[in-house]
Formats: sequence, structure tokens, C-alpha cells
Amino acid sequence: MMGVKQFPEFRSERLLDYLSTAVMVLDDHFRLMYLNPAGEVLLATSASHARGKAIRELIINADMLTEHLSAAMENGYVINQRNCRLELPDLHSLIVNCTHTPITLPGQRNGTMLELRKVEHHLRIAQEEQLITQQEATHALLRGLAHEIKNPLGGLRGAAQLLEQEIADAALKEYTRIIIGEADRLQNLMDRMLGPNDIPNMRGTNIHTILERVRELVRVEADSGLRIHQDYDPSLPELHADPDMLVQAILNIVRNAAQALEGEGEIVLRTRVQRQFNIGNRLHRLVACIQVIDNGPGIDEQLREKIFFPMITTRSDGTGLGLSIAQSLISRHQGLIECSSKPGETVFTILMPLDSKNES
Ligand SMILES: Nc1ncnc2c1ncn2[C@@H]1O[C@H](COP(=O)(O)OP(=O)(O)O)[C@@H](O)[C@H]1O
Ligand SMILES: [Mg+2]
Repeated sequence: MMGVKQFPEFRSERLLDYLSTAVMVLDDHFRLMYLNPAGEVLLATSASHARGKAIRELIINADMLTEHLSAAMENGYVINQRNCRLELPDLHSLIVNCTHTPITLPGQRNGTMLELRKVEHHLRIAQEEQLITQQEATHALLRGLAHEIKNPLGGLRGAAQLLEQEIADAALKEYTRIIIGEADRLQNLMDRMLGPNDIPNMRGTNIHTILERVRELVRVEADSGLRIHQDYDPSLPELHADPDMLVQAILNIVRNAAQALEGEGEIVLRTRVQRQFNIGNRLHRLVACIQVIDNGPGIDEQLREKIFFPMITTRSDGTGLGLSIAQSLISRHQGLIECSSKPGETVFTILMPLDSKNES
């Protein structure tokens, strides 16, 4: 079966290794005795490094936890704590919901088990789910509409062609030529709205080769005031993807950034690996994170909610199809595009599973 964890010999304590909730076991002096892999990710440390350390060495503001941990140990009941902000030694902070459970350790010593669930994470999953559903609905609507327009358009064009052959007057032929020309333009637009229909040609693809292609293409189009920097994670494994589709998707995003910069500014192309990461409601072991960051004017909040919809554009010569097509290309790779923006920093993040070949 796909994506199912194998347990050749069943040992229940191993189950904690696969849990997406961070679990810590602490002794009566709040020293760490155990940390599961989700906990290693959450606290950005390794279990072997953290074992035996006092909790305040791992979490700067551990007081708010130890208070509840003591209470749980003394009274022997489970305590839930919501929305607490933890500060980590690397200075980044996160909001978690915690459960403190008193347990008895070997040698009859008191201890506690602490479960930490990241709050923003849940919010993000809900938002992504909504984004995916919304995008699927718009695409279905548009595809339907485009099909309905394309069919009579063919007839219209054919009739104009026949008419053209019947007309001797060159001045009148000008009209049929306009009909044919406009029908072709509309046909072209509908084809682009329907999006790429080819079956993806999936193969092992190096994302950095793709990014270098895009960088080259945008550089040729842009003025010399535009700088495109690379910030690549060389450990990123190959993606199982259609390279042409990826070039198209990323090109649409980078081109937008270049246009927003109006010839003067910086774009950073960044790649990273994320472990135990959710795309929609699905947890992936490894996810490729590709970011296009520009220092342009940004996208205001009202517009930001709509930019992935087709036909949304602020440019006089825009079609509003670039991001919609990029999104549909990436979703064919089980991935997702997100956007965050403030003046001076707009970030488009593409998330794609690195384990989809084995799991889907
Ligand atoms: N990096 C960016 N900075 C500022 N605005 C952006 C950026 N990327 C996209 N946008 C906004 O999103 C809109 C939609 O983009 P897109 O779907 O590619 O259509 P188009 O490029 O044809 O306008 C753009 O018109 C622009 O307003
Ligand atoms: Mg565009």
C-alpha cells in the first residue's frame, strides 16, 4: 500500500516516531529524557543533543511550561494549555497548544509527558485547503465557459471564411478578415484559459537547472537594473516533475516580479528542503520549497486574495492568466503556490512534495 509505514516487528514505542505531534518526556527536574522526531523539528534540535538538558536550555521562556508541569505532577491530572508562545534559543518563536500529562518513570520517579501542537500550522492547513478548493472551483467554471465559447467560435470563423470567398469587393473582405482575426484571437485566449492540457511528462528533474533557465529567460527580457540572485540549497534532491511545466510556472512568477520592479530592483530565487511538512491536509516527509522574492512595491491585501484567479490583472497589457496557469501547473504536481507581500518584499512560495512518486 502507498505511503503506509511498515512495522516489521511491532513495538508500540516506535509509534511516537511517526506522530506529527511533538512529544517530550521530562523528569522531575524538568530535564529532557525523550524527544520524538516531530519534537526535533519543532524545537530545531536533535534528540541526542537535547537529551539530559534542562527544559530552559531548549525553550527560553520555559517558566510558563514548568509551572503547569509542576501542577500536573503534583495533582496527578492532565493540564491543557492553549496558545502559548515559546521562544527558542535561535530567537524564533512559535505558538503552540500543550498537553501536560503526569507519568511515572522507572524507579518510581515522577515525570511528565508534554505534547506540543503548533497552532499556526493548523491555521495554515485550513487556509490552504480553502485555497485549493476555491481554485478548483474557479478552474472548473472557467473551463466550462471556455468550452462553451470555443464551439460556436469555430462555426463563426468557418462561416466568415466561406463568406470571404463569395465576396469580390476588397473593401468588404476587410470585414470578414476582422471577423476571422478576432475569432482567432478569442480562440487563442480560450486555449490559454483552458490551460495546458498535455499529459505531464514526469521525470527526475533538477530544480536548479529549471531556475537557471528561468533566470536566463528573464534576464534577456529585462533592463540591466534588474539583478537576480540565487540562494540555492544544494542538498535538495531531484523532483519528480515535468520540466517544461515547471519552467512555465516559475517563469510566470518571476516575470511578474520583474514587471513589478519596472527594470530596477532585486529578485532572489531561493530553494530549501522542509521536513514533515503539510501541503493541504497531507503530511509529507520531504517538501521542496521554492521561493521567488522581489523588493518591489508589493501587492495590496485586497488584490492579494484574488491574484490567483484568472483575469485578475492590474497591468494594461496583462491577461491575468499568468498566476492562474502557474497554480494549475503546480497543482498537477500535487503542489501549491502561496503569496505573502508587503511593500519592499513580495514572496511567492511554491511547495512541492519530494515523496509523491512513492506515495501517490
Ligand atoms: N511580484 C509581484 N509584485 C507585485 N504585483 C504582482 C506580483 N506578482 C503578481 N502581481 C499582481 O498580480 C496580478 C496578476 O498576475 P498574473 O496572473 O501573472 O497576470 P498579469 O501578469 O497578466 O497581470 C498582476 O497584474 C499584478 O498586479
Ligand atoms: Mg503575469
